[in-house]
Amino acid sequence: MEKELKISPSLLAADFGNLERELGKINKSEADWLHIDIMDGVFVPNISFGFPVLKYVAKLCEKPLDVHLMIVQPEKFIHEVKDLGAMMMNVHYEACVHLHRVIQQIKDAGMKAGVTLNPSTPVFLLEDIIRDVDMVLLMSVNPGFGGQKFIEHTIDKVRALRELIERTGSHALIEVDGGVNQETGARLAKAGADVLVAGSAVFKAPDMGEMIHQLKIAGR
Ligand code: DX5
Ligand code: ZN
Repeated sequence: MEKELKISPSLLAADFGNLERELGKINKSEADWLHIDIMDGVFVPNISFGFPVLKYVAKLCEKPLDVHLMIVQPEKFIHEVKDLGAMMMNVHYEACVHLHRVIQQIKDAGMKAGVTLNPSTPVFLLEDIIRDVDMVLLMSVNPGFGGQKFIEHTIDKVRALRELIERTGSHALIEVDGGVNQETGARLAKAGADVLVAGSAVFKAPDMGEMIHQLKIAGR
């Protein structure tokens, strides 16, 4: 049986004036998770939303929360992310001096732990942490904004990461974030991705549920 591709729609592209309606559609869809992008204006040149807003998102959303922190010192917010009821907390490799410690702290808090790589950070740097993480999130755009163009080199990085995971016996999932649509999604799935994040492709689609379905079967 082929492995099922997971879809994690990115809240960043949602219509915040109609949050209840948007999340209602996600709840009814085949989406597996909801991807939440937290930015600080320091690690990335943008600010998104913080915990007081996300508290309401968490109440309205029935899908597991896949939280992506694009902030410096993400370890300061492990308990806030846990209090949201998050399933997964992703921190950037580039933002953590003591990555191993941060990963353990996330797990000790009872969440799954993910490490995220910017487009210019090579996969081989994960050699000594790959067995400790539940997921690797590969950025296929420079983080900070939705609606950017997919960086092609990500396909090679997915392949390299798949090799590293197999060679080391790691159980980490491969998630890709940025510029994902049906076309790039199909190629990512074939290269070995397990989870696709999609913001604009999902929330700007005329039929969100149908787009999520199309992404789920991408690459089959
Ligand atoms: C970018 C964020 C992404 C973003 C993706 O910094 O991490 O999750 O929402 O948006 P699209 O799918 O529009 O590229
Ligand atoms: Zn993201």
